[in-house]
Amino acid sequence: MTFDTIIRGGTVATASDTFSCEVGIAGGRITALGANLGTAAEIVDATGLLVLPGGIDSHVHISQPSGPGIVMADDFASATRSAAFGGNTMVLPFAMQQKGESLREVVKAYHKKADGQCYIDVSFHLIIADASDAVLGQELPALVHDGYTSFKVFMTYEGLALSDMEMLKVMTVARETGAMMMVHAENYDAIRFLTDRLEQAGKTETKYHGTSRPIAVEREATHRAISLAELIDVPMMIVHVSNGQARDEIARARRRGLKIYGETCPQYLMLTEKDMDGLNMEGAKYVCSPPPRDKESQIACWEGLQQGIFSLFSSDHCPFRYDDPQGKLAPKGKTSFRWVPNGIPGVETRLPILFSEGVGKGRISLNEFVALTATNHARTYGLYPKKGTIAVGADADIALWDPKREVTISQSLMHGGTDYTPYEGIKVTGWPISTMVRGKFVVRDGELVGTLGAGAYVPREKSELAKPRTA
Ligand code: URP
Ligand code: ZN
Ligand code: ZN
Ligand code: ZN
Repeated sequence: MTFDTIIRGGTVATASDTFSCEVGIAGGRITALGANLGTAAEIVDATGLLVLPGGIDSHVHISQPSGPGIVMADDFASATRSAAFGGNTMVLPFAMQQKGESLREVVKAYHKKADGQCYIDVSFHLIIADASDAVLGQELPALVHDGYTSFKVFMTYEGLALSDMEMLKVMTVARETGAMMMVHAENYDAIRFLTDRLEQAGKTETKYHGTSRPIAVEREATHRAISLAELIDVPMMIVHVSNGQARDEIARARRRGLKIYGETCPQYLMLTEKDMDGLNMEGAKYVCSPPPRDKESQIACWEGLQQGIFSLFSSDHCPFRYDDPQGKLAPKGKTSFRWVPNGIPGVETRLPILFSEGVGKGRISLNEFVALTATNHARTYGLYPKKGTIAVGADADIALWDPKREVTISQSLMHGGTDYTPYEGIKVTGWPISTMVRGKFVVRDGELVGTLGAGAYVPREKSELAKPRTA
């Protein structure tokens, strides 16, 4: 057997096992695992390193329209570059529909933004903002058929929030087509009511962002989304869960036998509401929805990861520059938290944070880390076993980790389009030093060696987890 590359001397970890072996790569795929694989055009010395499946970040926002005068800080080039430096080999951003738009045209427009602009592989989820008969009857089923096998709906945000009636209609299409539903669960009317009341009382600073959408707002919507999904009998992913009460809604649903899954993100392990209480709008750096909560919620989210209630750990990367009138400090944003663009960067720091805080501190195993950051994303969104594992036949999407490297996270180390990291100053142990997509290095020993456009668009199969309980 001949190989293009052999990775030699490293410790391989998958979602189930950890073992010492060589990885033989040919034609962009893993073609052998074993000892003494022989010769190859290139031998990569991985002595002392972990050889992990490349991270798959299944929740990122790239180049989405974000309101008048606001521009997202990352395009596909900068986002996928930043992701690669963070040990990722694939990201799943959203093609976001706005009211009145044809979903097919939206998808075409996102392909145009991404084509030739990616360093790592990419696939799109859809965001359904217009649940019209034409969209749900024709466009959506055709798109699922074409490999866009997951879509997100919002229960809040102006112009995006769907009514319960619309949610039920979208869920029906998900059930009929076998697509995976994703839901952003927050009660829109409650947020609007609380926001109005805070503004009337002159409470407009960024710290009130959290007050405007407390845990009850998320718990109620999570419960409602689950109830609606139960009526339709459709599997569903509750994205970006921030606290124990919403987590417990998912756990209860699972005990009733429902296929309800959960995702959490670094901000809910590492940040609290207090971070939004900065001087001179500094708090805007941490404004995202749901908002970071408190210590108790952080512990609850760790437990959710440990107990498998959350099967996905994603970044919800949604980058805006801080010191920029088109970003967090937009003129209108300075008048009230209501107008501060929601979302924080995190695609580059997701893996080191979970590795260090999770594996390094004994909260999760290395294999759980791989499951939460790669394998489960591939399984949930129809990419497995092509992506998300180290196995013969899988794409050679691999990250080489130095498990001992100590790094203090700092914006100066980042490779994306934002001008800050919410995790500035956090010390981590363990760092991805090289990233390889389909057998080709994108980042090697901390240097960008990949070519723009080498990242491919990957159409997806239907998820094995999206099958309804009853036929
Ligand atoms: O604040 C956030 N999370 N912004 C990104 C959009 C979303 O809701 O996921
Ligand atoms: Zn394309
Ligand atoms: Zn969301
Ligand atoms: Zn998001």
